[in-house]
Amino acid sequence: MTDADLYAEALSAAEGAYAPYSNYRVGAVVVAEDGRRFTGANVENAAYPSTLCAEAVAIGSAVAAGARVIDTVAVACLDDDSCMPCGNCRQMMVEFEVKRVVAGAGPGAVRSIPFEEVLPDSFGPDHL
Ligand code: THU
Repeated sequence: MTDADLYAEALSAAEGAYAPYSNYRVGAVVVAEDGRRFTGANVENAAYPSTLCAEAVAIGSAVAAGARVIDTVAVACLDDDSCMPCGNCRQMMVEFEVKRVVAGAGPGAVRSIPFEEVLPDSFGPDHL
C-alpha cells in the first residue's frame, strides 16, 4: 500500500467522524508492525474536552486488538488538506513506537514525516 493509498484510506475513515461542534472531520489509519490496519475518526462531545481524536480512536483500536508496536499513523481531514496530529496524539504515538506519520501536504500532496520530527526528544516508556 502506498502512502497515497494510506492517506486515501484515512480520508475515507473521516467520513465516519462525529464532529457537529467543530465541523472538522478527521480520519486516521494505524499500520501495526504486523501489517494490520486500524481506522478511526474523531468523536466529539457536548462537553468539548471529552472529544476523542481520530488518531486516538485508531491507536486504541489497534492496541485493543493486541498491537503493541505501530509502524505508521496516517491522518487526513475532509475539511483541511494539511491536518497534523495534536500534541496529545503525538504523545500516544510515543508509547507504541510509531516510526512515521503520513499527512496531507496541500492539495493532492502527501508527505511522510519521521517521528523524531513529529515529536522531538519525546518522553517515552524507555524512561521507566
Ligand atoms: N482532531 C483530531 O481528530 N485529530 C487531531 O490530531 C487534531 C484534532 C479533532 C478533534 C476535534 O474533534 C476536531 O478535530 C477539532 O479540533
